[in-house]
Amino acid sequence: MSSVKSLQTEFPETIEIINKNPSYTYNEKNEKKKIIKDLLKKYDAKIVAHYYVDEDIQEIAEETGGFVADSLEMARFGAKQSSSTLIVAGVRFMGETAKILSPEKKIIMPVIEAECSLDLNCPYEDFKEFCKNNEDREVVVYANTSAKVKAIADWVVTSSIAVKLVEHLHSNNKKLIWAPDKHLGRYIQSVTKADMKIWNASCIVHDEFKSEALKKLKNENKDAAILVHPESTLDVIALADVVGSTSQLIRACKELPNKKFIVATDNRIFYKMRKSAPEKILIEAPTAGKGATCKSCAHCPWMAMNNLDNLINAFHSNKNQIYIDKNTQEKAFKSTNKMIEFAKNLV
Ligand code: 13P
Ligand code: SF4
Repeated sequence: MSSVKSLQTEFPETIEIINKNPSYTYNEKNEKKKIIKDLLKKYDAKIVAHYYVDEDIQEIAEETGGFVADSLEMARFGAKQSSSTLIVAGVRFMGETAKILSPEKKIIMPVIEAECSLDLNCPYEDFKEFCKNNEDREVVVYANTSAKVKAIADWVVTSSIAVKLVEHLHSNNKKLIWAPDKHLGRYIQSVTKADMKIWNASCIVHDEFKSEALKKLKNENKDAAILVHPESTLDVIALADVVGSTSQLIRACKELPNKKFIVATDNRIFYKMRKSAPEKILIEAPTAGKGATCKSCAHCPWMAMNNLDNLINAFHSNKNQIYIDKNTQEKAFKSTNKMIEFAKNLV
Protein backbone atom coordinates (compact mmCIF):
# COMPACT_ATOMS: atom_id res chain seq x y z
CA MET A 1 0.00 0.00 0.00
CA SER A 2 2.91 2.36 0.60
CA SER A 3 3.39 2.10 -3.15
CA VAL A 4 0.10 3.75 -3.98
CA LYS A 5 0.58 6.35 -1.26
CA SER A 6 3.94 7.51 -2.51
CA LEU A 7 2.78 7.59 -6.12
CA GLN A 8 -0.28 9.51 -4.96
CA THR A 9 1.98 12.16 -3.45
CA GLU A 10 4.39 12.36 -6.34
CA PHE A 11 2.03 11.95 -9.29
CA PRO A 12 -1.56 12.53 -8.10
CA GLU A 13 -2.99 13.06 -11.63
CA THR A 14 -1.57 9.71 -12.77
CA ILE A 15 -3.20 7.85 -9.91
CA GLU A 16 -6.50 9.65 -10.53
CA ILE A 17 -6.57 8.49 -14.16
CA ILE A 18 -5.54 4.88 -13.33
CA ASN A 19 -8.22 4.69 -10.64
CA LYS A 20 -10.80 5.46 -13.30
CA ASN A 21 -9.51 2.57 -15.45
CA PRO A 22 -12.49 0.43 -16.40
CA SER A 23 -12.47 -3.36 -16.60
CA TYR A 24 -14.51 -4.74 -19.47
CA THR A 25 -16.79 -7.72 -19.81
CA TYR A 26 -16.18 -9.93 -22.84
CA ASN A 27 -19.08 -8.30 -24.72
CA GLU A 28 -18.08 -4.75 -23.83
CA LYS A 29 -14.56 -5.45 -24.97
CA ASN A 30 -15.73 -6.77 -28.33
CA GLU A 31 -18.08 -3.83 -28.80
CA LYS A 32 -15.25 -1.38 -28.10
CA LYS A 33 -12.90 -3.23 -30.39
CA LYS A 34 -15.46 -2.98 -33.19
CA ILE A 35 -15.75 0.80 -32.66
CA ILE A 36 -11.96 1.13 -32.73
CA LYS A 37 -11.68 -0.92 -35.92
CA ASP A 38 -14.22 1.35 -37.66
CA LEU A 39 -12.46 4.48 -36.44
CA LEU A 40 -9.08 3.22 -37.64
CA LYS A 41 -10.53 2.72 -41.13
CA LYS A 42 -12.37 6.03 -41.14
CA TYR A 43 -9.27 8.02 -40.12
CA ASP A 44 -6.67 6.00 -42.09
CA ALA A 45 -4.93 5.17 -38.82
CA LYS A 46 -2.74 2.44 -37.33
CA ILE A 47 -2.00 1.65 -33.68
CA VAL A 48 1.62 1.42 -32.54
CA ALA A 49 1.74 0.00 -29.01
CA HIS A 50 4.40 -0.82 -26.45
CA TYR A 51 4.56 -4.24 -24.71
CA TYR A 52 3.80 -2.60 -21.36
CA VAL A 53 0.27 -1.45 -22.28
CA ASP A 54 -2.83 -3.43 -21.52
CA GLU A 55 -3.25 -6.66 -23.47
CA ASP A 56 -6.57 -5.48 -24.98
CA ILE A 57 -4.69 -2.71 -26.76
CA GLN A 58 -1.83 -5.01 -27.83
CA GLU A 59 -4.42 -7.41 -29.21
CA ILE A 60 -6.31 -4.83 -31.25
CA ALA A 61 -3.09 -3.25 -32.56
CA GLU A 62 -2.08 -6.60 -34.03
CA GLU A 63 -5.55 -7.46 -35.34
CA THR A 64 -5.71 -4.22 -37.33
CA GLY A 65 -2.32 -4.16 -39.06
CA GLY A 66 -0.67 -2.09 -36.34
CA PHE A 67 2.35 -3.11 -34.31
CA VAL A 68 3.44 -3.98 -30.76
CA ALA A 69 7.13 -3.54 -30.06
CA ASP A 70 10.04 -2.07 -28.12
CA SER A 71 10.85 1.65 -28.43
CA LEU A 72 13.24 1.30 -31.36
CA GLU A 73 10.89 -0.88 -33.39
CA MET A 74 7.94 1.42 -32.60
CA ALA A 75 9.93 4.35 -34.00
CA ARG A 76 10.92 2.42 -37.13
CA PHE A 77 7.40 1.12 -37.76
CA GLY A 78 5.90 4.60 -37.41
CA ALA A 79 8.43 6.13 -39.79
CA LYS A 80 7.77 3.68 -42.60
CA GLN A 81 3.96 3.61 -42.28
CA SER A 82 1.91 5.08 -45.11
CA SER A 83 -1.17 5.76 -42.90
CA SER A 84 -1.77 9.45 -42.31
CA THR A 85 -2.54 8.94 -38.59
CA LEU A 86 -0.74 6.96 -35.90
CA ILE A 87 -2.23 6.14 -32.52
CA VAL A 88 0.71 5.71 -30.17
CA ALA A 89 -0.29 3.64 -27.13
CA GLY A 90 2.51 4.05 -24.63
CA VAL A 91 4.04 7.09 -22.96
CA ARG A 92 4.62 10.61 -24.20
CA PHE A 93 8.21 10.25 -25.43
CA MET A 94 7.02 7.48 -27.78
CA GLY A 95 4.37 9.77 -29.29
CA GLU A 96 6.93 12.57 -29.61
CA THR A 97 9.45 10.26 -31.28
CA ALA A 98 6.79 9.32 -33.86
CA LYS A 99 6.09 13.03 -34.53
CA ILE A 100 9.80 13.84 -34.76
CA LEU A 101 10.29 11.17 -37.42
CA SER A 102 7.00 11.81 -39.27
CA PRO A 103 6.03 15.47 -38.80
CA GLU A 104 3.50 15.26 -41.65
CA LYS A 105 1.47 12.58 -39.82
CA LYS A 106 -1.19 13.16 -37.22
CA ILE A 107 0.04 11.52 -34.00
CA ILE A 108 -2.58 10.81 -31.36
CA MET A 109 -2.16 9.31 -27.90
CA PRO A 110 -4.90 7.72 -25.75
CA VAL A 111 -3.52 9.68 -22.77
CA ILE A 112 -1.33 12.65 -23.41
CA GLU A 113 -0.53 12.81 -19.65
CA ALA A 114 1.29 9.44 -19.77
CA GLU A 115 4.80 10.43 -18.74
CA CYS A 116 8.03 8.62 -17.86
CA SER A 117 10.13 9.24 -14.75
CA LEU A 118 13.29 9.41 -16.89
CA ASP A 119 11.86 12.11 -19.13
CA LEU A 120 10.41 14.04 -16.15
CA ASN A 121 13.75 14.00 -14.37
CA CYS A 122 15.75 15.40 -17.26
CA PRO A 123 14.38 18.93 -17.72
CA TYR A 124 15.58 20.75 -20.81
CA GLU A 125 17.06 23.86 -19.14
CA ASP A 126 19.09 21.87 -16.59
CA PHE A 127 20.30 19.43 -19.20
CA LYS A 128 21.31 22.24 -21.56
CA GLU A 129 23.43 23.73 -18.77
CA PHE A 130 25.03 20.31 -18.08
CA CYS A 131 25.94 20.00 -21.78
CA LYS A 132 27.34 23.55 -21.83
CA ASN A 133 29.68 22.63 -18.98
CA ASN A 134 30.93 19.58 -20.91
CA GLU A 135 31.31 20.89 -24.42
CA ASP A 136 34.13 18.51 -25.29
CA ARG A 137 31.72 15.55 -25.04
CA GLU A 138 29.36 13.98 -27.57
CA VAL A 139 25.79 14.04 -26.21
CA VAL A 140 23.96 10.69 -26.23
CA VAL A 141 20.41 10.60 -24.87
CA TYR A 142 18.09 7.70 -24.26
CA ALA A 143 14.83 7.75 -26.25
CA ASN A 144 13.01 8.29 -22.91
CA THR A 145 13.48 12.07 -23.13
CA SER A 146 11.51 15.07 -24.38
CA ALA A 147 11.74 16.36 -27.95
CA LYS A 148 13.59 19.45 -26.66
CA VAL A 149 16.25 17.31 -24.99
CA LYS A 150 16.61 15.20 -28.15
CA ALA A 151 17.03 18.47 -30.09
CA ILE A 152 20.26 19.32 -28.23
CA ALA A 153 21.67 15.77 -28.43
CA ASP A 154 24.08 14.38 -31.00
CA TRP A 155 22.54 10.93 -30.75
CA VAL A 156 19.33 9.33 -29.53
CA VAL A 157 19.44 5.66 -28.62
CA THR A 158 17.23 2.93 -27.14
CA SER A 159 18.20 0.06 -24.85
CA SER A 160 18.31 -2.44 -27.74
CA ILE A 161 21.35 -0.79 -29.38
CA ALA A 162 22.82 1.42 -26.64
CA VAL A 163 25.87 -0.80 -25.96
CA LYS A 164 26.65 -1.05 -29.67
CA LEU A 165 26.36 2.68 -30.27
CA VAL A 166 28.55 3.56 -27.29
CA GLU A 167 31.10 0.90 -28.36
CA HIS A 168 31.19 2.57 -31.77
CA LEU A 169 31.65 6.08 -30.33
CA HIS A 170 34.25 4.87 -27.81
CA SER A 171 36.26 3.18 -30.58
CA ASN A 172 36.31 6.59 -32.28
CA ASN A 173 37.81 8.11 -29.10
CA LYS A 174 34.70 10.09 -28.21
CA LYS A 175 34.06 11.15 -24.64
CA LEU A 176 30.36 11.12 -23.83
CA ILE A 177 27.52 12.66 -21.90
CA TRP A 178 24.87 10.02 -21.16
CA ALA A 179 21.34 10.91 -20.03
CA PRO A 180 19.05 10.38 -18.30
CA ASP A 181 19.10 6.77 -16.97
CA LYS A 182 21.96 6.33 -14.48
CA HIS A 183 21.52 2.54 -14.23
CA LEU A 184 21.56 2.00 -17.97
CA GLY A 185 24.48 4.45 -18.23
CA ARG A 186 26.51 2.59 -15.60
CA TYR A 187 25.73 -0.74 -17.24
CA ILE A 188 26.89 0.52 -20.65
CA GLN A 189 30.00 2.02 -19.07
CA SER A 190 30.82 -1.30 -17.37
CA VAL A 191 30.56 -3.16 -20.68
CA THR A 192 32.23 -0.66 -23.01
CA LYS A 193 34.69 1.12 -20.64
CA ALA A 194 33.76 4.37 -22.40
CA ASP A 195 34.41 7.74 -20.74
CA MET A 196 30.85 8.79 -19.80
CA LYS A 197 29.45 11.60 -17.68
CA ILE A 198 26.14 10.22 -16.47
CA TRP A 199 22.95 12.14 -15.64
CA ASN A 200 21.22 11.14 -12.41
CA ALA A 201 17.72 9.78 -13.13
CA SER A 202 16.09 6.38 -13.03
CA CYS A 203 12.96 4.46 -13.97
CA ILE A 204 10.57 4.13 -11.02
CA VAL A 205 9.55 0.65 -12.21
CA HIS A 206 12.96 -0.95 -12.71
CA ASP A 207 14.44 0.78 -9.67
CA GLU A 208 12.22 -1.44 -7.55
CA PHE A 209 13.67 -4.84 -8.42
CA LYS A 210 15.77 -6.04 -5.48
CA SER A 211 18.90 -8.16 -5.83
CA GLU A 212 18.84 -9.92 -2.43
CA ALA A 213 15.27 -11.11 -2.93
CA LEU A 214 16.11 -12.04 -6.53
CA LYS A 215 19.05 -14.21 -5.36
CA LYS A 216 16.73 -15.97 -2.93
CA LEU A 217 14.14 -16.56 -5.65
CA LYS A 218 16.81 -17.91 -7.99
CA ASN A 219 17.95 -20.30 -5.24
CA GLU A 220 14.43 -21.63 -5.00
CA ASN A 221 14.24 -21.95 -8.81
CA LYS A 222 17.72 -23.05 -9.83
CA ASP A 223 16.59 -24.10 -13.31
CA ALA A 224 15.19 -20.63 -14.14
CA ALA A 225 16.98 -18.14 -16.39
CA ILE A 226 16.91 -14.52 -15.23
CA LEU A 227 15.88 -11.90 -17.82
CA VAL A 228 16.62 -8.27 -16.92
CA HIS A 229 15.88 -4.94 -18.60
CA PRO A 230 18.97 -2.70 -18.32
CA GLU A 231 17.04 0.10 -16.61
CA SER A 232 17.41 -2.06 -13.49
CA THR A 233 20.13 -1.47 -10.91
CA LEU A 234 23.65 -2.86 -11.55
CA ASP A 235 23.37 -5.47 -8.78
CA VAL A 236 20.18 -6.84 -10.36
CA ILE A 237 21.80 -6.77 -13.82
CA ALA A 238 24.75 -8.71 -12.38
CA LEU A 239 22.41 -11.65 -11.69
CA ALA A 240 21.00 -11.75 -15.24
CA ASP A 241 21.39 -14.51 -17.80
CA VAL A 242 20.16 -12.09 -20.47
CA VAL A 243 20.12 -8.27 -20.35
CA GLY A 244 18.15 -6.59 -23.10
CA SER A 245 15.36 -4.42 -24.44
CA THR A 246 11.78 -5.66 -24.14
CA SER A 247 11.91 -7.30 -27.61
CA GLN A 248 15.24 -8.94 -26.80
CA LEU A 249 13.84 -10.36 -23.54
CA ILE A 250 10.77 -11.77 -25.33
CA ARG A 251 13.07 -13.41 -27.89
CA ALA A 252 15.26 -14.86 -25.14
CA CYS A 253 12.22 -16.36 -23.41
CA LYS A 254 11.28 -18.12 -26.65
CA GLU A 255 14.77 -19.19 -27.72
CA LEU A 256 16.57 -20.22 -24.51
CA PRO A 257 16.17 -23.91 -23.62
CA ASN A 258 15.05 -23.14 -20.04
CA LYS A 259 11.47 -23.89 -19.15
CA LYS A 260 11.31 -21.29 -16.37
CA PHE A 261 12.13 -17.57 -16.39
CA ILE A 262 12.40 -14.90 -13.71
CA VAL A 263 11.62 -11.60 -15.41
CA ALA A 264 12.80 -8.20 -14.16
CA THR A 265 10.77 -5.74 -16.19
CA ASP A 266 7.16 -4.48 -16.38
CA ASN A 267 4.88 -7.47 -15.92
CA ARG A 268 2.62 -6.56 -18.89
CA ILE A 269 5.40 -8.07 -21.02
CA PHE A 270 4.10 -11.50 -19.89
CA TYR A 271 1.22 -11.23 -22.36
CA LYS A 272 3.58 -11.35 -25.35
CA MET A 273 5.96 -13.83 -23.72
CA ARG A 274 3.05 -16.22 -23.12
CA LYS A 275 1.86 -15.82 -26.69
CA SER A 276 5.25 -16.51 -28.23
CA ALA A 277 6.25 -19.27 -25.78
CA PRO A 278 3.09 -20.69 -24.14
CA GLU A 279 4.92 -23.67 -22.66
CA LYS A 280 7.27 -21.53 -20.53
CA ILE A 281 6.76 -20.69 -16.85
CA LEU A 282 7.14 -17.00 -16.02
CA ILE A 283 7.88 -15.60 -12.57
CA GLU A 284 7.95 -11.90 -11.66
CA ALA A 285 11.25 -10.69 -10.23
CA PRO A 286 10.67 -9.47 -6.67
CA THR A 287 10.04 -5.82 -5.86
CA ALA A 288 9.87 -6.48 -2.13
CA GLY A 289 12.75 -7.01 0.30
CA LYS A 290 15.45 -4.78 1.77
CA GLY A 291 15.18 -1.14 0.63
CA ALA A 292 11.89 -1.74 -1.16
CA THR A 293 9.24 0.96 -1.47
CA CYS A 294 7.33 -0.83 -4.20
CA LYS A 295 6.26 2.35 -5.94
CA SER A 296 5.28 0.59 -9.09
CA CYS A 297 5.03 -3.11 -8.22
CA ALA A 298 6.38 -3.99 -11.64
CA HIS A 299 3.89 -2.08 -13.72
CA CYS A 300 4.53 1.38 -15.11
CA PRO A 301 1.77 3.70 -13.82
CA TRP A 302 1.89 5.80 -16.99
CA MET A 303 1.62 2.83 -19.33
CA ALA A 304 -1.32 1.69 -17.17
CA MET A 305 -3.26 4.84 -18.08
CA ASN A 306 -3.91 3.53 -21.61
CA ASN A 307 -7.23 1.73 -22.10
CA LEU A 308 -9.85 1.05 -24.81
CA ASP A 309 -12.07 3.94 -23.70
CA ASN A 310 -9.46 6.64 -23.88
CA LEU A 311 -8.21 5.13 -27.14
CA ILE A 312 -11.72 5.67 -28.61
CA ASN A 313 -11.99 9.19 -27.17
CA ALA A 314 -8.59 10.14 -28.57
CA PHE A 315 -9.98 10.11 -32.12
CA HIS A 316 -12.44 12.85 -31.23
CA SER A 317 -10.30 15.12 -29.07
CA ASN A 318 -7.77 17.67 -30.28
CA LYS A 319 -6.05 17.65 -26.92
CA ASN A 320 -4.76 14.13 -27.58
CA GLN A 321 -2.59 15.19 -30.51
CA ILE A 322 1.19 15.57 -30.28
CA TYR A 323 2.54 18.93 -31.48
CA ILE A 324 6.23 19.83 -31.66
CA ASP A 325 7.45 23.21 -32.93
CA LYS A 326 9.25 23.04 -36.28
CA ASN A 327 12.65 24.14 -35.00
CA THR A 328 12.68 21.50 -32.23
CA GLN A 329 11.36 18.82 -34.58
CA GLU A 330 14.03 19.49 -37.20
CA LYS A 331 16.87 19.40 -34.67
CA ALA A 332 15.48 16.32 -32.87
CA PHE A 333 15.01 14.61 -36.25
CA LYS A 334 18.79 14.69 -36.83
CA SER A 335 19.73 12.92 -33.58
CA THR A 336 16.79 10.49 -33.75
CA ASN A 337 17.24 9.60 -37.39
CA LYS A 338 20.95 8.93 -36.74
CA MET A 339 19.77 6.14 -34.41
CA ILE A 340 17.56 4.68 -37.14
CA GLU A 341 20.44 4.80 -39.64
CA PHE A 342 22.93 3.33 -37.15
CA ALA A 343 20.53 0.46 -36.37
CA LYS A 344 20.29 -0.41 -40.08
CA ASN A 345 23.97 -1.31 -40.12
CA LEU A 346 23.68 -3.78 -37.23
CA VAL A 347 23.08 -7.45 -37.83
P1 13P B 1 12.34 -0.79 -24.58
O1 13P B 1 12.98 0.09 -25.61
O2 13P B 1 13.20 -1.94 -24.17
O3 13P B 1 10.98 -1.22 -25.04
O4 13P B 1 12.17 0.05 -23.24
C1 13P B 1 11.33 1.15 -23.12
C2 13P B 1 11.02 1.47 -21.75
O5 13P B 1 10.53 2.51 -21.42
C3 13P B 1 11.34 0.46 -20.74
O6 13P B 1 11.00 0.90 -19.49
FE1 SF4 C 1 9.57 5.29 -18.18
FE2 SF4 C 1 10.06 3.27 -16.56
FE3 SF4 C 1 7.60 3.66 -17.45
FE4 SF4 C 1 9.55 2.77 -19.12
S1 SF4 C 1 8.70 1.73 -17.35
S2 SF4 C 1 8.06 4.37 -19.54
S3 SF4 C 1 11.29 3.90 -18.31
S4 SF4 C 1 8.77 5.04 -16.11
